Amino acid sequence: MSQATGTTLVNREILLGVSGSIAAYKAAELARLMSKDGAQVQVVMTSSATKFIAPLTFYSLTGREVYHEMFSGGPEVATAHIELARRADLVVVAPATARTIGRIACGMAEDLLSTTIIASDTPVVIAPAMNPQMYAHPGVRENLAKIASWPGYFVAPPTEGELACGEYGLGRLTEPSDLWSFCQWVLAGGKQDLAGERVLVTAGPTLEDIDPVRFLSNRSTGKMGFSLAKVAARRGAEVTLVSSIVPPTPIPGCRCVTIRSAIEMQDAVLAALPNTTTLLMAAAVADYRPAELAASKIKKQEGDMQIVLERNPDILGSLTPDPTRLTIGFAAETDHLLKNAGDKLRRKHLDMIVANDVSQIDSGFAVDTNRVILLFPDGRQKALPLMSKLDVAEAICDQIQVLRQS
Ligand code: PMT
Repeated sequence: MSQATGTTLVNREILLGVSGSIAAYKAAELARLMSKDGAQVQVVMTSSATKFIAPLTFYSLTGREVYHEMFSGGPEVATAHIELARRADLVVVAPATARTIGRIACGMAEDLLSTTIIASDTPVVIAPAMNPQMYAHPGVRENLAKIASWPGYFVAPPTEGELACGEYGLGRLTEPSDLWSFCQWVLAGGKQDLAGERVLVTAGPTLEDIDPVRFLSNRSTGKMGFSLAKVAARRGAEVTLVSSIVPPTPIPGCRCVTIRSAIEMQDAVLAALPNTTTLLMAAAVADYRPAELAASKIKKQEGDMQIVLERNPDILGSLTPDPTRLTIGFAAETDHLLKNAGDKLRRKHLDMIVANDVSQIDSGFAVDTNRVILLFPDGRQKALPLMSKLDVAEAICDQIQVLRQS
């Protein structure tokens, strides 16, 4: 039983397609994780993939012969793809190269893998892996968008990071454990219903420098914002994350912009906003910053010291309203939760505010759970029970759908 989804994986038939990329070695770990959870894994490789990793590796991990040639002799070969396609509960292509993606997008049955996919009527997960420039190419983008629009097809987005070519960017094959969680989510009925949304998430505290060694900040850890970024990307949105804290592990499908202060966060938000359809402002932005930044470490003196603070910009409150964009804020409150959150909803012209009771130890800052009430401009309220931050993120993403349709 998968702990992530509660879906039984024992004896589920998974067809793992491996195409020719340096990331093919990660498919071995993916096959191992699948087999360990009781799934029956059948590997089909493209001939280029066999140049990166030996079929014997997959045979050893899955206990099944690996297919890689359309016509390898024997009477059954002409229909092997139909048999393979029929048997599978899920098809996963990891890594999926630009060439394999292109073949699938065009319905071109050119080799055993693409032929098997085209002959299949089970859910198909495509996990791209390529150089960032290639991943950003309009041809690849169009092919992926086309594939993602087909019923039963899912794109498991790559992560940002350093690639084998030495370049940094979005294009690394998602880590095997994340990819396996994504597959389990698909098997459990997950939907990529945010495809086409470009979501900007802010997360974490801002750090307001006093001198080169000290700053003012707050207890935010970024967990709520990271959960939003993870869920929105899994549901098919393109996600940009603006945060002072780097997520502990790369979030698939997420471009990260690292900032420090509220002013830097405002600059990053304004730069990304023209390309944003939904803004999720989960960051705990400092309302004040030291009026002066000391150039060197402030020395201890006799008696007390005072630091003069000046107002930071209200990032949300100063945005020019745009009826095509959904703007969702959070309100972290210890008292008068609904009144204070409702005031912020109206003052900042938001489409929704997530009223966050941070007075409880199991809710708000630093913990993995949260207890929130969603407030809307028409006075509606939706109270959610205590739940994981990932589930809160799911509920917020559900509202993106509802607000779009209203
Ligand atoms: O990061 P975690 O440890 O997981 O904790 C999560 C959280 C408690 C930080 C998060 O769930 C949360 O409640 N974030 C909002 C915290 C906050 O700053 O609330 P606020 O009431 O001060 O601000 C209201 C809204 O205006 C927020 O969306 C905030 O991002 C925004 N704001 C605030 C001040 C400012 N100068 N500019 C802003 O845009």
